[in-house]
Amino acid sequence: MISEQLQKARNFEEKYGKYADIERPAYHVTGTIGWINDPNGFSVYKGEYHLFFQYHPYSNEWGPMHWGHVKTRDFVKWERLPAALAPDTEADRDGCFSGSAIELPDGRQLLLYTGVNRIRRTDSLVEEFQHQCVAVGDGINYEKYEDNPVIDAGFLPEGGDALDFRDPKIFKDGDNYYCVVGNRTSDGSGSVLLFKSADAFQWEFVKVLDACYNEYGRMWECPDFFSLDGKQILFVSPQEMRPIGLEFHAGYGSVCIIGSYDHKTCTFKREKVQAIDYGIDFYAPQTLKTPDGRQIMIAWMQNWTTTFCKRNGSRIHGSMTLPRELTLRDGRLFQNPVREIENYRSRKVSYENVIVKDTITLGNVNGRCIDLNVTVKPFKNHNYKFFRMTFANDGEHFATIRYKSDSSTVRIDRTRCGSSFDIVHVRDFIVSQNKGVIKFRLMLDGNHAELFVNDGEEAASFLLYLDNNDAKAITFEADEEVLIDVEKYDLIID
Ligand code: FRU
Repeated sequence: MISEQLQKARNFEEKYGKYADIERPAYHVTGTIGWINDPNGFSVYKGEYHLFFQYHPYSNEWGPMHWGHVKTRDFVKWERLPAALAPDTEADRDGCFSGSAIELPDGRQLLLYTGVNRIRRTDSLVEEFQHQCVAVGDGINYEKYEDNPVIDAGFLPEGGDALDFRDPKIFKDGDNYYCVVGNRTSDGSGSVLLFKSADAFQWEFVKVLDACYNEYGRMWECPDFFSLDGKQILFVSPQEMRPIGLEFHAGYGSVCIIGSYDHKTCTFKREKVQAIDYGIDFYAPQTLKTPDGRQIMIAWMQNWTTTFCKRNGSRIHGSMTLPRELTLRDGRLFQNPVREIENYRSRKVSYENVIVKDTITLGNVNGRCIDLNVTVKPFKNHNYKFFRMTFANDGEHFATIRYKSDSSTVRIDRTRCGSSFDIVHVRDFIVSQNKGVIKFRLMLDGNHAELFVNDGEEAASFLLYLDNNDAKAITFEADEEVLIDVEKYDLIID
């Protein structure tokens, strides 16, 4: 049965969604209309990839959370589906927060999400309670479980906070379902709780899988837990991070904890911790495993601290990154654009061993919907200090990517893109030294820039906030002569 609230959201999408088409990038997922944040329920269902997301159709601001819905066969072209969930039952009357999805043995798709209830206390303060709920459906329509919530405050370990208890990610291990859920502990910082179920409806608490102890931020949101190339990975999105070197920036971060997992005792042991994305606009990543064994990640290409930057009168706000393939190499998380995007490459332009000194441009190397690959190499015995690339350049506005060889750092910079918002526009991160050779792959889609360095060793996502869609020029610059190889494709998503 479709509730009145859900029908209202679907009617709204039907009526207004088409007007947002002029604002959309070519291959980055946006909501049908209104606001979106975290990816939810990123999963395989009946041979297709489904993606849900936090959604407020009625304005370009965050509001009572619904779940929006799209699906794809190749991670590039997405089909819009009607909104999947609305806050319309007692258990989720103040919002259907983030969660995940899985295909059940009987062919139905199960959504596990956080239901929110707010109450006004007698001293007038509003308190929010979060608990985990279930809905099942056929890939379009979902019925909420009558006994929701399925995991409530009564399941919490001692010190666990019922106000910050959200974002279940479900997975199967052996015969059982498990889910990891973000929680706040008595020291005020985050933890990830593990729950277990035989049928995905009746749950029991297993253990605290890992905890923050105020080291990496405070509340840990949107956990994900999966195996990758022989290791076990825990993703968390912490609030209130403090900077650590150039690895973690302040605010809302993305943390990848690499470790090992004992499936019998459900014990996770940390080995290494690194940032997931070194850019500006990235949060709440979620992954799925494809039938051919690839672990694919998608994230919200925004960050809470910059969400107020929006064009006047925009009908949509928020988008997703291009899905990325994850691998582990030498104990490090690598990310690369899904290989399917290469099917949309056209008009190849390539150059080899071009000498760059001062500033140069190259014929037909330009565009705003492109896959640009640049390898920089030292020339003869010259030791260059910096190499810089500008893009989305109209002479007045441009974004830059700069590599400094002495510190082995890359800087992304959108200061000159024309935004009048006083937000973070610059970010630096460390890349590995490789005798002055550095590789960039820039995936550009209108105002969406995703940079991959050294074959995916680092990724950095950032939005440009540039009004001029015709700002297409690309320049290359170095202080000393360097050689570059360039391969550029237009991406045509028909
Ligand atoms: C993360 C988050 C989640 C929550 C959702 C609400 O961005 O705060 O923890 O479920 O957004 O929209």
